[in-house]
Amino acid sequence: APHARSLASLRGGSVGMASSAVVDAPVERFRKDYALPAQLVGAVELKFEIFETETLVHAALHVEPASPPRREPMVLDGEELALRSIEMDGAPLVEGSDFTLSAAGLTLLSPPLTPFTLRTVVAIKPQENTQLSGLYKSSGNFVTQCEAEGFRRITYFQDRPDIMATYKVRIEADKQAYPLLLSNGNEVGKGDLPSGRHFAEFVDPFRKPSYLFACVAGKLDGIEDKYTTASGRDVRLAIWSEPENIDQLGWAMQSLKDAMRWDEQTYGLEYDLDVYHIVAVNDFNMGAMENKGLNVFNTACVLAKPSTATDDDYERVQGVVAHEYFHNWSGNRVTCRDWFQLTLKEGLTVFRDQHFSSDMTSEAVKRIEDARIMRSAQFAQDAGPMAHPIRPESYIAMDNFYTVTVYNKGAEVIRMYRTLLGAQGFRKGMDLYFARHDGQAVTCDDFRAAMADANGRDLTQFERWYLQAGTPTVKARGEYDAEGGVYSLTLSQTTPPTPGQPHKLPFHIPVVTGLLARDGTTLVDSTVLELTEEEQTFKFEGITSPPVVSLLRGFSAPVKVDLPRSDEELAFLAANDADPFNRWDASQRLATRVLLEMAAGCDATQTDALEKEVPSSLIDAFRATLCAPGLDNSLKAYSLSLPDFGTLSQEMDPIEPDSLLAALKATRKAIARQLHSELAAAYDALAPPAGAAFTLEPEAVGRRRLRNVCLSYLAKLGDEDRALAQFRSATCMTESIAAVRALVESPGAARDEVLSTFYERAKANKEALVINKWLAVQAAADTPDALETVKSLMAHESFDANNPNTLRSVVNTFAGANPAGFHKADGSGYRFISEQVIDIDKRNPQVAARLCNAFNTWRRYSGARQDMMKGELMRIKESPGLSKDTFEIASRSLA
Ligand code: PHE
Ligand code: ZN
Repeated sequence: APHARSLASLRGGSVGMASSAVVDAPVERFRKDYALPAQLVGAVELKFEIFETETLVHAALHVEPASPPRREPMVLDGEELALRSIEMDGAPLVEGSDFTLSAAGLTLLSPPLTPFTLRTVVAIKPQENTQLSGLYKSSGNFVTQCEAEGFRRITYFQDRPDIMATYKVRIEADKQAYPLLLSNGNEVGKGDLPSGRHFAEFVDPFRKPSYLFACVAGKLDGIEDKYTTASGRDVRLAIWSEPENIDQLGWAMQSLKDAMRWDEQTYGLEYDLDVYHIVAVNDFNMGAMENKGLNVFNTACVLAKPSTATDDDYERVQGVVAHEYFHNWSGNRVTCRDWFQLTLKEGLTVFRDQHFSSDMTSEAVKRIEDARIMRSAQFAQDAGPMAHPIRPESYIAMDNFYTVTVYNKGAEVIRMYRTLLGAQGFRKGMDLYFARHDGQAVTCDDFRAAMADANGRDLTQFERWYLQAGTPTVKARGEYDAEGGVYSLTLSQTTPPTPGQPHKLPFHIPVVTGLLARDGTTLVDSTVLELTEEEQTFKFEGITSPPVVSLLRGFSAPVKVDLPRSDEELAFLAANDADPFNRWDASQRLATRVLLEMAAGCDATQTDALEKEVPSSLIDAFRATLCAPGLDNSLKAYSLSLPDFGTLSQEMDPIEPDSLLAALKATRKAIARQLHSELAAAYDALAPPAGAAFTLEPEAVGRRRLRNVCLSYLAKLGDEDRALAQFRSATCMTESIAAVRALVESPGAARDEVLSTFYERAKANKEALVINKWLAVQAAADTPDALETVKSLMAHESFDANNPNTLRSVVNTFAGANPAGFHKADGSGYRFISEQVIDIDKRNPQVAARLCNAFNTWRRYSGARQDMMKGELMRIKESPGLSKDTFEIASRSLA
């Protein structure tokens, strides 16, 4: 069997437990098999008795039969629980005759057809929980993580999102060690207990699925604030973290209040409880979790102050705080019927947080950032063995489907509703969705129906975005009839096969299109063309001069565009398109073409010769962008940044990493050399005015962003002085980390100085997240001894192999952001990562499985690399005791 979970340690001495460890084969679950159980838990009472060696969880489940009642066993999920007692309506139950136990749970063999109360007591060991799912300890504090299937690691329960119940919770713990006790909802009682212990009690009035349950017992400091809702209710806001972080919580608080206001103004949605807590912890598998009224966050998504957080970190904190807040409606008040519907809450909530961030910062910049993720990560997933529709059809480990497809492509699908229905139509659909389904667990089809019904639109075909995986390509061919003044645009679509889906039906694709005259003026403003057939022709009349078409403005659909363009046309669009997104896009297309042509069959060792091949069209276009008057600096910065290895490699078949990396290096150098004076001038001109206070105004962020892009180019020519000076005089993390990054690949005194100063400072200030940056910059460095560097980082005093953030900073960064190291021809990078997957899997399957995705592209490589990557996947798949999470990724990848 591919995986075996030993439960022996917990099982000893417990009531009625199977005598040996149970080995079960991974079970694949299917969307089509959904069925509501015959008994439904409607109310839960929980008591946690927290001790150092174990925690006792007392549960009372109030169960109602479905109507009409059905005579069926009742399945309760449970993992790594030691059952201490079980009774129904006061009578003890007997294993074998009343119930059975397995490694996956407890089954009541013939539950009554009338309401009953089931009481259990289980023992769990949070202090040994390294998976960080269920109740676990992080830096001495107890915290929970229940999505997707963690609640079953706390108590026996129907751990599925369609079981919605009210929760009454009591927590008991040592008062000195754990002064702060929290759970969802309102605190209704607290007090002292004998032996230095204390308790607190909570009631959450809203019915919720178990994945939204949370409790916390710890020693944390916090900041508090107050928010008055539009209807005049006061809400207490509190953000908690370890005492040394207390000065880094203000930005999250501001973001929370901004998000609360925005949701009232944009969707008329108000917060519903009297209190909203955010708890920040060091050890967390994901970014953050939207538990009702008690969010738990990875510190990386909460903490920010100018000296520790970059501008991108600030943006992330703002976006994630808003995301979790928005879940209170899109996810909590209206939740998912089953986990296949995950995008119902995640796609919608990502869309909402993107829209919020866009409103708080800059629409075009935010759109570019989101499109970059789609192209580098989501398109890659669509093109590989893990390709799945935003609503997957099956899973072995649900945790593997918290993907860029479900989240980010899911958000793009929501955005398309809005593009098709208009802002007002979309709002009508949202209103209807919440009015119809408040308090329910529903499906993606319910959301689509609300959008259709509120607008009188037929969105049947639109379901294909939920059914079919893969990235469509929209091919566009234009024809201009000068005599008639008609421009005809023929659009056609194809979507490549993905695992299990050889043939695709046409999607409903909004293609936002504009036409420009050759002098740059607008001929036709942005128009939504609805492509629903395999091929359609759209005619624009009254076009008096030959137009240049600007297609898929604002990235109006998650598709690729096939439209042959000359370098001149791309340079023209980069300079003139009225849509800022498409200006950026044109610069990226131009760069992509150049890089791929250079990479095709180049001699990767001849970098000097390669540098001479970089065409002047690219240099000229970049110069024009850099020097364009009045263009936003962030837009300049992104336009001047070359597409990354991941994005480019999708266009190369087979992927030749040496050639592609050589082309990238040579092009960067050519740009640096030929635009040296412009870059240096821009760099100097963008220096912050002396004595200027730190601000996050988009203008200031844009300055820093562009200045750092200039610095990175200048560093390619060995200009260490600017980087060193920037580091020494840095007034914020955005400046210092960019200087470190600019120097990290150039051995020497400057590099040594910045690395050691940076580390010592972070260590003295106990800034774990800053140390992670220090680790990540080095793990990403393209140096001949990259792997040795990574191994020495893992031996460094700051490295904690149980902390997901630290692990990701080193190991995932190497696998994902150091293509030269990971794809090193001798296979050492592959071997290292597979060893890490196997090792991490023993402690934390979710983190291991995510890392295992690094091998998903193996078929795209040729010869020895393909064989080696495949070999590592097989080694992983066959390693004894593998978790179902990692087993699923490895086996899907090999299938
Ligand atoms: N639901 C969380 C979010 O998107 C993500 C998450 C999933 C966190 C699973 C933890 C575990 O906001
Ligand atoms: Zn979410």
